[in-house]
This record gives sequence, structure tokens and C-alpha cells, in this order.
Amino acid sequence: MSSSDGIGRLRAIERQFDRDRISVADLKSLEDIRTRYLSRKAGLLTLELQNLGKLPKDQRADFGRVANEVKLKIEASLDTLQATIAEREKQTALGREALDVTLPGNRRRVGHRHPLTIIRNEIEDIFVSMGYTVEDGPEVESTYYNFDALNFPAGHPARDPRDTFYVSEHMILRTHTSPVQVRTMEKIQPPVRIICPGRVFRRDAFDPTHSPMFHQVECLVVDEGITFADLKGTLERFHKRFFGEKTKTRLRPSFFPFVEPGAEVDVSCVFCDGSGCRVCKGTGWIEVMGAGMVHPNLYQFVNYDADKYTGFAFGGGIDRYTALKYNINDLQLFFQNDIRFLGQFA
Ligand code: DAH
Repeated sequence: MSSSDGIGRLRAIERQFDRDRISVADLKSLEDIRTRYLSRKAGLLTLELQNLGKLPKDQRADFGRVANEVKLKIEASLDTLQATIAEREKQTALGREALDVTLPGNRRRVGHRHPLTIIRNEIEDIFVSMGYTVEDGPEVESTYYNFDALNFPAGHPARDPRDTFYVSEHMILRTHTSPVQVRTMEKIQPPVRIICPGRVFRRDAFDPTHSPMFHQVECLVVDEGITFADLKGTLERFHKRFFGEKTKTRLRPSFFPFVEPGAEVDVSCVFCDGSGCRVCKGTGWIEVMGAGMVHPNLYQFVNYDADKYTGFAFGGGIDRYTALKYNINDLQLFFQNDIRFLGQFA
């Protein structure tokens, strides 16, 4: 074996390595190629070096020099490759995990109050600031509280099952918040100054101005010397606070079994300030409530002294007040839970 053969093979290994390293793409294939050429047991170069001892002495130096040169070159080449690949893998990882802090974030929807709740709270706040307390009453109510004790005569049309939801013969879904008047007077002695907001139910089909379930707020004041002027003053004060100081309130004679005299309450149109528009049908006024002086018959049901006490009451729709405040022309929107509608009140 001559050293020129050996050197020739070393050079062949070197060329083969130059071809092989082109296909090295990651740290794994880099380790493979390192093992293939330099492994202590079976590396191609290692095996070749084992031939050193078989060479004639005078050729060993040349062979050894070239072998060393090839080994150093392969090692250096592998080190460079390793650095390049490691850097590339790092850059890829960085790119994959990169955060663009200037991108807009995912906004989380935050819950908020329903428009009817906003308005109910506003109404409560106004009355509480005037010294009223807020009462509650059952939605499943007896015909006694809903009708009898409110002076509704036996055959009154409001009792008709075509208008009222009956749960049983004497139990119904309350058709108004007025029964809380009676419940309150049974509970406490005058002076009474309460409001009661709540849900009420009537057998109406859904349309822009009707719903089988809607909301009312009831007011009751009973004390010595309460007059119709107190009723009018309270309504005026409330409407000015709620709709704005230029709002006017007007009372028209009307009838409800539980008040005498009774009245229908109008406010000057909140859209045209009373000059006449489509909403108020050109009248300048919008009807918002029923009201009146507590009928003396009610005092008998609750054992109040009708000679000593007088009082007023009124009741109106919270849904209607909300619709007027926000200029909403369809009550159904309040109950459809469409986030595009509700989101406007956030
Ligand atoms: N409860 C009546 C209704 O639902 C409204 C009402 C009228 C309430 C006159 C009152 C009142 O307190 O005095 O139509």
C-alpha cells in the first residue's frame, strides 16, 4: 500500500464530505454526518487513519499531514454548519413565537344593564330622593288583591280569562302593579310613601306597542291631608326630573275602579316639545300613566280610617318610559335579546 493511494482515498473522502454536507438541513442530520466521518469506531476518516501503521515509514509523514488537514477541514466545516443551522433554527422559532404588540387585541364583551333596568333604576332613584321606599309584590297574585280589594266589580271585563292569565280559579298573573297598594296598606300604617316597579302580564299578542309581559311602576301616598294638588305636583316634579325641566304634565278626567277622581296623565311630547309631531300624532301630548285619589272603598279592605286619611296613586309603564327616553318605536326590541340592540346601552 503506497501513501499516494492512501492520500488519494483521503482526498476522495474529502470530496464525498463536500457533497454530503450540502444536504445537511438540521442538527439531527449534522450529527449523522459527523458520526459518519469522524466517529471513533467506524468514522470513514477514522478507518482510513488506521491504515497509517501499514504504510512504509517514509510515507507516513505525508499521509499523516494530509489526514490531519482533511480532519481539521471536516471538523471546521461541521462547526460552521452547526453554527449556521443553530442560528437558523433560532430565527425560525423566534419568527413562530413572535408577538406583534401593535396588533389590536381581542376585545372581550363586557356585560351591562338592560335598558329597562337602567330606566327602572333611574325612576327608583328619583322617588327615593323624594323620600319614597321601594316595595315588591308577587307576580302570581290572587284575584282578591288584583281585582276585589281594588274595587273592581264582579263582572268587570278585566277579569275575563281572554284578557288575564289564570293559574287557577282565584290565582292569576297580576295584570298591573296596583295590588301592591293593598298589600302595602295591610302591612303598614300611614304615612305611606312607596313605589313598586315590577312585571305584569296580559293576554295581548306581540306588536310594536303590546307585549304579553311588560313592566309597570306603581306609586302610593297616604297620609292626613293629601290632596289632588299633591298628586299633580308629584307627577310634575317626577316628569321634569325624568324628561327634563321644560316638560309639562297634564291630567285628564278618567276612570279606574280604585281611584276617585281618576285621571289620565299626559306629558308634553318629548320629541317636539309640544308643537305636534308624528309620535304625539300632532297633539303635542303623550299619555303615560293612570292616576287618581285613592278610592275610600280601599280603606275598608285594609282597615284605614277613611275620615282621617286621604291618598293618591298612579301607575305607568316602564317600557313606555324607556321607549320615550331612548326614542324606541318597537317594544318587542326589549324582549328579543338582540345584542346589536342591547349593545347600544352599554
Ligand atoms: N293599574 C292601572 C293600569 O294598569 C294604572 C293605574 C291607574 C294605576 C290609576 C294607578 C291609578 O295607581 O291610580 O292600567
